[in-house]
Amino acid sequence: MKKIAVLDQNTIDKIAAGEVVERPSSVVKELVENAIDAGATAITVEITDGGKKLIRITDNGSGMDAEQVPLAFLRHATSKIEKVEDLTHIASLGFRGEALSSIAAVSQVELITKTPSGISGTRYVIEGGKEQSLEEMGAPEGTTFLIRNLFYNTPARSKFLKSDMTEAGYINTLMEQLALSHPEISFKYIQNRQVKLSSSGNYSVKDVIYSVYGREIAKALLDVSYENDFMKIEGFVGKPEFY
Ligand SMILES: Nc1ncnc2c1ncn2[C@@H]1O[C@H](COP(=O)(O)OP(=O)(O)OP(=O)(O)O)[C@@H](O)[C@H]1O
Ligand SMILES: [Mg+2]
Repeated sequence: MKKIAVLDQNTIDKIAAGEVVERPSSVVKELVENAIDAGATAITVEITDGGKKLIRITDNGSGMDAEQVPLAFLRHATSKIEKVEDLTHIASLGFRGEALSSIAAVSQVELITKTPSGISGTRYVIEGGKEQSLEEMGAPEGTTFLIRNLFYNTPARSKFLKSDMTEAGYINTLMEQLALSHPEISFKYIQNRQVKLSSSGNYSVKDVIYSVYGREIAKALLDVSYENDFMKIEGFVGKPEFY
């Protein structure tokens, strides 16, 4: 029989990271959800080369104090729950405390963040799970993440990625879904220096539909609104010509 070995921490972390971060769009999803949880009203997502080379996400949310920053990158470290009972009434998108540690394990991460009450901002660099630097830096309120060279230290996963165009396509779809489901947030999505999506954050779903699907489709939609004692439905349906 083969011997059973207990894996070392580095191997454990890389396996765990693979469950959260499958491709560039997973990174975008996790970081945008963090920005939403941080109360951001404006989020900018910028990618180059399908997100394989660079993903930059900027939000105007709560930011993090310097001493919190290294903690955010530890596994099972979260500000969103404290105890097991909290699991029954989760009000945030994240709660596992897994995303940042997973992303940092398989990429080169730079973070710049500042809280409203902080005197200065913080810049933090972590690559392949190893802290490189933590320093004070002037910064606007909110948080910017730069994720460079995803899977640079896991060539097997890197090979599994599709073409830049296909990976960018996954991110396009994700950004459309995020914008449509959060009309209260102003999103800007830039792909290879070109603005692909921009929403105003004025709470109007119709306006986001206009930004995502264009004028023709937005014009041809009919409002749906229904309420009874048990439920409330709101949305839009397309006229048959758009079916
Ligand atoms: N953009 C951000 N602005 C402010 N704080 C942030 C931001 N991103 C992450 N954080 C802080 O870092 C912590 C760790 O983030 P991470 O995404 O790893 O875990 P989580 O969101 O709590 O859970 P999950 O793994 O389910 O996403 C968060 O709980 C939050 O306190
Ligand atoms: Mg998260």
